[in-house]
Amino acid sequence: MKWIIDTDPGIDDASAIITAVNSGALDILGITCVHGNVGLEYTTRNALKLIELMDVGIPVYGGASRPILQKPEHASYVHGTDGFGNTFLSEPNIKLEPIHAVDFIIEAAYADDKLGLLTLGPLTNVALAIAKDRSLEDRIDRIVMMAGTSRARGNTSPVAEFNVFADPEAAAVVFDTGIPITMVPWETCLDTLLGPDTIRELRKSLTPVGQAFSNAMEFTLKGIEASMGQEFLVLCDLIAACVAIDPSVVKEKASVTVRVETCGRYSRGLTVIDERNIEGAEPNVTLCLACDREQIAGMFLNAINHQN
Ligand code: RIB
Ligand code: CA
Repeated sequence: MKWIIDTDPGIDDASAIITAVNSGALDILGITCVHGNVGLEYTTRNALKLIELMDVGIPVYGGASRPILQKPEHASYVHGTDGFGNTFLSEPNIKLEPIHAVDFIIEAAYADDKLGLLTLGPLTNVALAIAKDRSLEDRIDRIVMMAGTSRARGNTSPVAEFNVFADPEAAAVVFDTGIPITMVPWETCLDTLLGPDTIRELRKSLTPVGQAFSNAMEFTLKGIEASMGQEFLVLCDLIAACVAIDPSVVKEKASVTVRVETCGRYSRGLTVIDERNIEGAEPNVTLCLACDREQIAGMFLNAINHQN
């Protein structure tokens, strides 16, 4: 199985990329960047900087700079203006690959019949690749994604999670393909918080990427402490990366069908979970309802302290 990580770094995306790369468990063909937490100019720059700090030589591609239909939606209030905790990392020396992320995804899907996608942002790149070449519906082996909600408990609208809310049309295309999807919803991320012990260890990290992440996470921690009175990290994308690396981190799951609401005035971006299969469609989504927090924290700390 070869993998592409599609991402909008993003602080939690960074934790996912560090763990996916340094775990050594995934054969990663490339990193494709997409608009999302911040604009594409920053998501690409952050991805390049992370790959440079880890000195791993994985190619990085620029992708879609806006959603398919609606205006761009960003989350700089969570990730900082630069998408990395307002640490404004220095300009990376390495450069983006010359082809577009969508074309890279298509090329990889033709080159390998066992292509996995780990998607950590809005699904615009993946949807555009499928729209450009529909055979990808049969060529992509599986998608592990952080996206959506399991109980309509939204983080960006009352019912919608950011990655789906930021491009509902793209999400609807991807969920409707029938490609096997393993979905980590927002509620599961809220149940898998990383607490003071992990934060303490992250602050002690001496690797270049560990120090960069530790500096960036302070921005998020300040916001969480101000509103919740204590420090913890909700690293959604890290959970999805760990699920791709080692599915044993999933402790409870359900086989469901998912549709994306694109028209509702109040429900646009809602992932409609048909758990009792009322529609009678063939379930194509494994919904991750609970994950092992300690196992995930350990995988991240091992990765962030990994020395090449
Ligand atoms: O809702 C959380 C998701 O939206 C995460 O992927 C985060 O990075 C943002 O992209
Ligand atoms: Ca993300």
